Order: sequence, then structure tokens, then C-alpha cells
Amino acid sequence: MAYETIIVEIEDHVCTIKLNRPDALNALNSQLLKELASALTDADRNDKVRAIVLTGSQKAFAAGADIKEMSEKSFVEMYLTDFFGSEHEAVQKVRKPIIAAVAGYALGGGCELAMMCDFIIAGDNAKFGQPEINLGVIAGIGGTQRLTRFVGKSKSMDMHLTGRFMDAEEAERSGLVSRVVPAKSLMEEAMNAAGKIAEKSTLSTMAAKEAVNRAYETTLAEGILFEKRLFHSLFSTEDQKEGMAAFQEKRTAQFRDK
Ligand code: HXC
Repeated sequence: MAYETIIVEIEDHVCTIKLNRPDALNALNSQLLKELASALTDADRNDKVRAIVLTGSQKAFAAGADIKEMSEKSFVEMYLTDFFGSEHEAVQKVRKPIIAAVAGYALGGGCELAMMCDFIIAGDNAKFGQPEINLGVIAGIGGTQRLTRFVGKSKSMDMHLTGRFMDAEEAERSGLVSRVVPAKSLMEEAMNAAGKIAEKSTLSTMAAKEAVNRAYETTLAEGILFEKRLFHSLFSTEDQKEGMAAFQEKRTAQFRDK
């Protein structure tokens, strides 16, 4: 499929998706979110892809949902079309690891999109925020729930109620991002991280993602049981035999996703 608002490249088992509406600071409109959902679904199904990197420009990962597209909509339209509901679900359904490489603004829906990814690597110029309150609305694709889980109630309330931005240093200190790197080397760092993931067996990276995400949905005892069942199940794979043999033979494992 030819895309107009994103650029997709696949190289060395890593699919890079770049949001590409520079004139609107990558504001998320319906077209972009549909294209993104489609590209992510394709990458998830593509045997050649083992990791995904989602990024924007140096100035903006995404400055939020497209205000110009939304401003005149009625409740009935928003409700009947389940505005951005299906695209949100498509991102959540991706089973392969997704890294958000964030430089510049990640605001509103942009911050929410970054938080839907599995972890965030931030450029030192990154700015995160949920400024929807300034527009007379609130976050609509998970911001109140996910940001609260990342940074705790007090800071999440502060962000959602005042609309202030958080810089990269504060975002790392608060647990929103996994690491901060110089903005100019953001893609290199994100591709290195994705490359590390792509060296592993997709069977175990998918299982790790599934198990970590379970932590948000269940009790500790059930989550630990879920993890143990997945751990045991990986002993049915050729990649487990290969990984453990390679360790003992002091060589690099060659995983084949089998
Ligand atoms: C539509 C946007 C946009 C947005 C920026 N632009 N953000 N267009 N929707 N969210 C456009 C501007 O209108 C402008 O185009 C161009 O991008 C450059 O933006 P400027 O404002 O001129 O840039 P700058 O002065 O550098 O300020 C950057 C900024 C500011 C601080 C990021 O643009 C800003 O505050 N943007 C809105 C951020 C926001 O409120 N996000 C939350 C949206 S609601 P023109 O053609 O006018 O020059 C949301 C809800 C999620 O996300 C729920 C989903 C269901």
C-alpha cells in the first residue's frame, strides 16, 4: 500500500515507520492513523520483521491529534465513528516490540501514541505533555490511564490539569522514557536497540512483551503464573535449544523463530 503521511522502511529485520506530516508537526489525523494502523499490522505479520521503530521528525514526534480536523465535530459524530478507537486498538494489538524514538514534541495524542509503544527512547530535546485541557477537552486514547501508570497520580494529574510540558530529563527521572540520548543520535540509538531485539528469537521477544503487558492487567500471582507458563512453553522451541547450546559452545546464537 502506498502511504502519504508515513514513510515505512524495512532493513535488517527492523521496520522503521516515520510519521510524515511536517507542515502540521505530525498531527495525527484520520488518514495518518489509518495508514499507521495498516503499516503496523503489516509489519506484525511480516516474517522478516522482528522489531519496529516508530519515530517523527527532530521538531516533533507528533503534536497531538489534528485539532483542525476535530474542531467542528459533534458528540454524535465522535461517538458513532468511535473517533480513533479502532486505530488505537490496532496499535495495541501489535505483538512484536515497538520502540518509540521521540524527538521534539510528543503532545496529546502524540504522547499517548508514544506510550502505546513498548518503550520510549527520547532525544534530549523531547517535550511530553497532555495539553488537551487547554482545548476544553481531555486525553482520548489512553493518556489519563497510561501516563498515570508511568509517572504516578500526582505528576499525571499535574500534566493533565495544568497542560504543562515535561522535558526529557524529567521524563526519564519519572519513568516515562527508558533513556535519553542526544537528539542528533536518536535514530542511531533507537536502531541499535531495535537491532539488539532483532538478534533474538521473535518467539521469546513476543512472549516477553506479552508477559510484561500482563502486569498491567492482572494480580501479581496471576501475572507470575502467566509468566511461568510462557517460560515453560518456550522449552518447546528450537530457538531455546539453539540459545542454550550457543551459550555452552561459546558462540552467537542463530535464532530462526522456530
Ligand atoms: C493541527 C497542528 C497541531 C495539531 C501543530 N499544528 N499542532 N495542527 N493539530 N495538534 C500545526 C500548526 O497549526 C501550524 O500550522 C504548524 O503545525 C506549526 O505549528 P506552530 O504552532 O506554528 O509551531 P510552534 O509555534 O513551534 O508551536 C509548537 C506547539 C504548538 C507548541 C507544538 O503547535 C501547539 O501547541 N500545538 C498543539 C498541541 C496540542 O494542543 N496537542 C493536543 C491536541 S488534542 P499552520 O498551518 O497553522 O501554520 C489531542 C487529543 C488526543 O491530541 C485524543 C485523540 C482521540
